[in-house]
Amino acid sequence: MFFHRALALTALLCACAAGAGEVEVLHYWTSGGEAKSVAELKVMMAARGHSWKDFSVNGGGGANAMVALKQRVLAGNPPAAALIKGPTIQEWAGLHVLSNLDAMAQFEKWDTLLPPVIAEQMKYKGSYVAVPVNVHRVNWLWANAAVLKKAGVAESPKNYDEFFAAADKIKAAGFIAVAHGGQDWQDFTVFESVVLGVAGPAFYQQALVQLDKTALASEQMKQALQVLRRIKGYTDSQSPGRDWNASTDLVINGKAGFQFMGDWAKGEFLAAGQQPGKDFSCSPAPGTAQAYTFNVDSFAMFQLKGWEAQKAQGYLAYLLMGQEFQEKFNLRKGSIPARLNMDMGKFDACAKTSSQDFVATSQAGTLLPSVAHGMALAPAAQAAMRAAVSDFWSNDKTTVPDTLARLVAVAKLR
Ligand code: BGC
Repeated sequence: MFFHRALALTALLCACAAGAGEVEVLHYWTSGGEAKSVAELKVMMAARGHSWKDFSVNGGGGANAMVALKQRVLAGNPPAAALIKGPTIQEWAGLHVLSNLDAMAQFEKWDTLLPPVIAEQMKYKGSYVAVPVNVHRVNWLWANAAVLKKAGVAESPKNYDEFFAAADKIKAAGFIAVAHGGQDWQDFTVFESVVLGVAGPAFYQQALVQLDKTALASEQMKQALQVLRRIKGYTDSQSPGRDWNASTDLVINGKAGFQFMGDWAKGEFLAAGQQPGKDFSCSPAPGTAQAYTFNVDSFAMFQLKGWEAQKAQGYLAYLLMGQEFQEKFNLRKGSIPARLNMDMGKFDACAKTSSQDFVATSQAGTLLPSVAHGMALAPAAQAAMRAAVSDFWSNDKTTVPDTLARLVAVAKLR
């Protein structure tokens, strides 16, 4: 323990001196907006003489990246840092392969710079083992402004009655109503927003976070599944298997009206030169305006041999928590900074809403971890719930009662 503390602090102190080292960073940020965001980091590392070895693994949501990471760690050759989140951080820390970042965290006062809900996720047995870079809000509905106008939809739908009325109009006007990529994690993303919108924040917490069997088998969950199936009826025939950003492109290019997706989608709109409030809109998913499902991207640092590598890794951790990086990165990524009290002056209206709602929902008790994005459940339970939801979404023969039974069974994996 002492060894790693000393190491992180020395690495931090050396952050002020130039010195070449390489960091290999595992991530899955391969879409247009994501690539631009991560490029900010490469530039900032290079400015200090450190080189960047990209270990990017295709696949939204990161499931493929996690498989690749396991292989590398098992082979005794971990990357310097990896994009891992939520309870998965604790699993890796439990294997004693992560660096302890306490010395840097104390020196830089991370406890005072981070909301407690985020700081807690970064710690294992009270010690920092990961660095948060942002907060993504998941419960958004994206819309193409021109498509809505042509279809005669005046306002973003505030509940599912309004949503289906708007979707009917968009369809009748000749557009795809809902741009969706039929991949398990995307199906799961829509599902959690629907559960929240149909049954409310307290139910979401009880059913999806606490895995309460009565809630999982309830009438409300049944209604949520029925709404989910109805939404699927508004997707196009090319939806199965399509990547999330290709679906966002359909909205950007005026082929589709809506997309349910976290605000990494905004990164795509921005990368395409579009502006919120003009070309596209960001609204809370129907029925979820008073709640916020959060998804924090964070990097864990793996224990490395070799002084140069450790020094570069320490500098990376230091940069990631810095104000400059958190501003530049989040302006592109669609998310908001994880650090508190950042100047939001350069951010757009969607980010400002997100930032205000993060605070307001935190006070109201309706700030909730995104289950679909690995913020709440242990990986095994998350995978089982994702499979149940995705089978329901992709196979119309899968019944509501069978799916409720599968969801109840997830509770055993708690
Ligand atoms: C991650 C985002 C990423 C998105 C698509 C989410 O789980 O938190 O950073 O952009 O997946 O891959």
